[in-house]
Amino acid sequence: MTCTVNSPRVDRRDLEFVRALTPPERDLLLAAHASVPASCAPEIHWTNLYVDGAFVAEAPQRDRLHSWVLRLVAEVYADWPEVHLISYGFVVNPAGSSAEQPFHCDYGVTTSNLFIPLTRVTLNNATRFIRQPLARARPRTTDFIGTVDEILEAEGCEVLEVVQLACRPFCLLRLLPGTPHAGVPNREDYDRAMFWVTVDSQPRRIGEGTLALFREDPLTPDERGSP
Ligand SMILES: [Fe+2]
Repeated sequence: MTCTVNSPRVDRRDLEFVRALTPPERDLLLAAHASVPASCAPEIHWTNLYVDGAFVAEAPQRDRLHSWVLRLVAEVYADWPEVHLISYGFVVNPAGSSAEQPFHCDYGVTTSNLFIPLTRVTLNNATRFIRQPLARARPRTTDFIGTVDEILEAEGCEVLEVVQLACRPFCLLRLLPGTPHAGVPNREDYDRAMFWVTVDSQPRRIGEGTLALFREDPLTPDERGSP
């Protein structure tokens, strides 16, 4: 394979640290999160604030929060020719959850997520992701890619690099498109809460089917694929 120094690394898969949030950004998110009703769901669950161009839940300073999300997306994806905001909200992995997600990508191979934990993320509750290799089993759609054994089989290889990113609260993280990831049981004694933002380089509507999943509480393991 040949490439030039200036070629975009289109095949890179990673969950990368972008920067830490500023104190005003933290306050904005904490106020929004405080408005989300507490859930008794024993497994990971999502609360959408915005989907497909529409607000679906109220949050304090909604317009200010939305403007900030737009600025954040413009900042982080400044090198993308185009970027479309798909959804944002809060995802909570409760203490003591037990479900293992299969490795998957959200919606499509051009989809990317921002994650901002409001709590510590440790090796006991950090999402796993596959960095390499994925030569043959690269996701083409919203695929559930499967278990490690299934991916090894599909790849025809002996090893996979499966990574976790432990971090402090209020780190801005970016999941690059096409990076298979999987939620894990939360073995800490606190709920792991995150703000997420989903974007796409292509216009995309995730639609009512996805919203219906979000409304169910809790989700079954088969439904628990995105974001
Ligand atoms: Fe996901």
